[in-house]
Amino acid sequence: MTKSSQKLLIVDDDAGIRKQLKWTFDRFETFTAADRKEALTVARRDEPQVVLLDLAMPPDLKGPSEGFAALDELLALNPKIRVIIASGNDERENALKAIQRGAYDFCAKPVDIALLNMIVDRAFYLYDLEAENERLSTLKNHIPLDGLITACPKMLQLCKAVEQVASSDISVMFTGESGTGKEVMARSLHRLSPRSSEKFIAINCAAIPENLLESELFGHEKGAYTGAVNRTIGKFETANKGTLFLDEIAEMPPALQAKLLRFLQDRFIERVGGRESIKLDVRIISATNKNLKEEMASGHFREDLYYRLNEVAFALPPLRDRQGDAVLLAAYFIQLVSKNLNAHIKGLTADASAAINAYSWPGNIRELENRIKRAMVLCQGKYLNTVDLDLEPSTKTAQTQTLRQVREKAEREIIAQVLAQTRDNISQSAKILGISRPTLYELMKNLGLKA
Ligand SMILES: Nc1ncnc2c1ncn2[C@@H]1O[C@H](COP(=O)(O)OP(=O)(O)OP(=O)(O)O)[C@@H](O)[C@H]1O
Ligand SMILES: [Mg+2]
Repeated sequence: MTKSSQKLLIVDDDAGIRKQLKWTFDRFETFTAADRKEALTVARRDEPQVVLLDLAMPPDLKGPSEGFAALDELLALNPKIRVIIASGNDERENALKAIQRGAYDFCAKPVDIALLNMIVDRAFYLYDLEAENERLSTLKNHIPLDGLITACPKMLQLCKAVEQVASSDISVMFTGESGTGKEVMARSLHRLSPRSSEKFIAINCAAIPENLLESELFGHEKGAYTGAVNRTIGKFETANKGTLFLDEIAEMPPALQAKLLRFLQDRFIERVGGRESIKLDVRIISATNKNLKEEMASGHFREDLYYRLNEVAFALPPLRDRQGDAVLLAAYFIQLVSKNLNAHIKGLTADASAAINAYSWPGNIRELENRIKRAMVLCQGKYLNTVDLDLEPSTKTAQTQTLRQVREKAEREIIAQVLAQTRDNISQSAKILGISRPTLYELMKNLGLKA
């Protein structure tokens, strides 16, 4: 059962009405209460989103004082709660007063069931809508850079630093494990820079065969080699006035490293097979998931090039070190994919959130994005669970228990203890626990305890 299943609380001192309404609304998870105190206990324990509230309740059966007090207390407990007032015909004025106090709507007694059904459905709908909007607005607060979601302090600091270096032409290098968002960062940096209206050209040095990479980057003249039938310009020239993103820079072959260094020193390039030096204005951003210090030590990467590329370096932390980000990002991807798939997935089950938190995400944000996408195609319900996500249920659920779960656990423990102590004497146990016998019976029933 997810925390967000639809729960309706029916508060009326008339047992017949409670029974009838419970039956009418059996499509929801229903709870009943006969007075204000019981209503509050249930609201605290079961967190209903919608309440049907009778104004005239004992001890004030003639006036609305108990109903008003219950309304105030319910709203204090959860300001989003939708309270629908059931009022006698002669109480219209009181119903209006209740609305002024924060009730959602009212329905005159004897209730018109069809009308009440509509009011209740709408109340649930609006409750969900508000909760969704709240979720989205908190998401909006976590977009420090375009297309980048995070609430991790270290990342936020890093985003600020990226903003600061964006205005200059300094060469920036992003390091970090695969899928940590190096390209997202590079694109943001470009968009924040004075070059934003010019091109951002990305090239993956690992994806292009060594013999083609030089021409890809620097272009070639006609007849430079067999098959070079036309003069072709390379990525450097295409990126002129803009930004060139050299991804997987550690994979660049030594000969090209020398040519890149020459560009970084004097800002000229030569096409393959050409003699002309072409002056270019290109900002270089590079990225790697390798340890370049090791690559230099083993002679695979030039030290002088390293220092030219790395005027400023940003190391992106892996997702497992960004506290809370995994679930935040999951919510973001669910929303994103929902739009594209036109799927109506509302979020994650509590178990799924816990499992996402506990998992180490070796493939980082890319892996998370892929898992969410796949899960959304497979998901049968409204909430993604651990099976959809193909994640082990977390053993660390203690961290993500809801207040209610903690309370129930404590209640179960103390009641079992007192029952054992009194050898299952209900009256005596109730006395020790400071509650009435019926309340103890009710609690035992709800908690699955047997005397
Ligand atoms: N903070 C973030 N918020 C939202 N989406 C992100 C974030 N970081 C990464 N992504 C998304 O995750 C995916 C991987 O990001 P990106 O390609 O930038 O990673 P990378 O570090 O370049 O990975 P690789 O080393 O494998 O090339 C992309 O789809 C990107 O949009
Ligand atoms: Mg990348």
